[in-house]
Amino acid sequence: MMLDFSNVIPSIPYILEGIGVTLEIVVFATIIGLFLGIILALCKIGTIKPLRWFANFYTSIFRGTPLVLQLMIIYYAIPQISNFNIEPMPAAIAAFGLNSGAYISEIIRAGINAVDKGQMEASKALGIPYTKMMKDIILPQAMKNILPSLMNEFITLNKESAIVTVIGALDIMRRAYVVGGATFRYLEPLLIAGLIYYVMTLVLTLLGKLLEKRMRRSD
Ligand code: ARG
Repeated sequence: MMLDFSNVIPSIPYILEGIGVTLEIVVFATIIGLFLGIILALCKIGTIKPLRWFANFYTSIFRGTPLVLQLMIIYYAIPQISNFNIEPMPAAIAAFGLNSGAYISEIIRAGINAVDKGQMEASKALGIPYTKMMKDIILPQAMKNILPSLMNEFITLNKESAIVTVIGALDIMRRAYVVGGATFRYLEPLLIAGLIYYVMTLVLTLLGKLLEKRMRRSD
């Protein structure tokens, strides 16, 4: 077995263009995931039973079934039973955002619970309203604790996004596969895709470390 990149080199820019597609999915899914995650976490720690029940049910469904299945339901199955058609990119963003919300809600819930009880008691004693207490006192502290876990989630999301290849979105993975099919050599384009994901993970890890350092400055 010899590696031969000569056929693949002209296609490298094509594969690199997939970075934009992958990032688009990951960035929008992260925004949805964070937003959903915060809401679900607040429902879980709150006292309103139906909301707590719903948030736990949501998490159990989205964590309990494969992400690729959720993606296929959104892209292939829902348009079949409704007259609602969806393009690959919005389908991917929706599936990843909804799925990530379940994971992020657990991360945030744990982070909120880890904030010293005295903080909540002091806020209550001072008569600070619940929303203000959560937004200005509890969540900022929770965010600092959960940053490493959140970073982990974004790294997972970035790599898991490769499954959008099953719905034909032209991300890094799909492009490597297309080039493999066109050149009859799969190993080299796949190695290039692997390298791109790896470098993206390294960059995300570095960003996480920098952010952590910055947040620690206020300690
Ligand atoms: N492969 C796993 C699944 O299909 C990963 C889910 C996504 N993980 C995440 N942290 N968002 O269930």
